[in-house]
Amino acid sequence: IAGSQNQEGLKLFVGNFVDTPSAGELRIRREHLLAVSPEGYITHLAPLHSDSSQLLLSTHPDAAGSSLTQIPAHSFLLPTFTDLHLHAPQYMYYGTGLDLPLLQWLEQYAYKAEERIDASAELAERVYGRLVQRLKENGTGCVSLFGTIGVRANLILAKKMQEAGLRGFIGKLSMDESPRPTYGESSASASLASVTDFIDSLQSYLSSFKPHERLVEPIITPRFIPVCSDELLVGLQKLGQEKGVRVQSHMCEGRDQMDMVMKSRGKRDQDLWDELGFLGPKTLQAHVTYLDENMIPLVKERQLTMAHCPLSNAYLSEKQFPLREAIDADLQVGLGTDIAGGYSPSIQVQMRQAVIISRLREGARCESLDCSFADADAQEADAASSKNVKVDWKEAVYLATRGGKKGMGLGGALEVGMEFDVQLIELASRSSPSGTGPLDLFDLKVEEDPSKLDEAWWNESIERWWCNGDERNRKGMWVQGKKIA
Ligand code: GUN
Ligand code: FE
Repeated sequence: IAGSQNQEGLKLFVGNFVDTPSAGELRIRREHLLAVSPEGYITHLAPLHSDSSQLLLSTHPDAAGSSLTQIPAHSFLLPTFTDLHLHAPQYMYYGTGLDLPLLQWLEQYAYKAEERIDASAELAERVYGRLVQRLKENGTGCVSLFGTIGVRANLILAKKMQEAGLRGFIGKLSMDESPRPTYGESSASASLASVTDFIDSLQSYLSSFKPHERLVEPIITPRFIPVCSDELLVGLQKLGQEKGVRVQSHMCEGRDQMDMVMKSRGKRDQDLWDELGFLGPKTLQAHVTYLDENMIPLVKERQLTMAHCPLSNAYLSEKQFPLREAIDADLQVGLGTDIAGGYSPSIQVQMRQAVIISRLREGARCESLDCSFADADAQEADAASSKNVKVDWKEAVYLATRGGKKGMGLGGALEVGMEFDVQLIELASRSSPSGTGPLDLFDLKVEEDPSKLDEAWWNESIERWWCNGDERNRKGMWVQGKKIA
């Protein structure tokens, strides 16, 4: 198959490849050959010594030259992380101001910060410039962003992402019923005109790039129901359909927000979104912490994608997302940092937090079953009658890579046909000084000869990286086949 293709312009990678094709399945492929087309898609991935790989190498005009990258021993390529929910302007104050409940927090911190960004192009340039740098350091190659109300600042954000070589969905906020008099839109029609202007301007900017080079796209972003009129929501839904643009918002995040919707509209958050036609395969909803057994069939039927933001939920919601139940029901879920509701821009931190929250939920479940005092028989019966809600680290890797991307119509694993968005992770290097933090993720008993490292060594070492690794282990990053860091 490979031999029949045009080999011109292919980039080749030889070494170890790790991905998660499904939740819980960590796939480790050692000594493989991967080929990437000039457009940035994976065209070949097979063992190095297979016939197809050897044929490809023998027919490639520059197989030994500059187009071949050898992944160092004790290193591997992993798909980049996807952050399904990040408020770009809130990067200005992330790591502060988590003392208030959600609705007060928005008025005290979020709206004020966003207003400042809209007022100053210079500030937007500076904050967004730093944000994209940080995303690269953290291995985040794809982000669904909430911006501000203003068109100008969102175009700056889109250009920063595109120029940095990062993939992004850029959400100009729509909110015509803002509680802050100096930060809002005057009417539904003004709001709709503004988002139309944003979509058209972004598409015009992108028209000078070839299709495969376009890394950013607009996403329609009603902030959340409490700040949007029905007229605006109806208009946005129609606009999304007309222009084939995705939609994102916040749904069922916290009690105060849900109560507000009930009080002002007489309806539950999820019912109103559904009635207005928003719940579909092109919609991404953040949080959904109040997902329950009654809502699961609706979410599944509508093929909604959800951004699980475990760190943010620990602060701004009183309830934690039922991740085990969502995975078991085969719902579409990825991870989100929710900067600045979550204080860390790192998806690796969110992976750990997602697992920790699931362990705490499991602990609470056990307590409610009175595990510690019940007699052994009763305990066993309880255990059999209700499910364990723990989630493990491999499932978290799935959410951070394939889970998030799949929800946005992308690949997120390492398979022929998928976009080549990867990060190079070095577990450790013999040449690095010993005993220095994350570079010490190295089994000291390991064989010098990397070919003798078995599957168990890889599993263990990747878990060690998952627990304690950081940006020092990240030695490179590619998006759509292009090296960006
Ligand atoms: N709901 C509406 N706006 C926001 C926001 O900026 N952050 C969070 N976490 N929730 C929201
Ligand atoms: Fe949010």
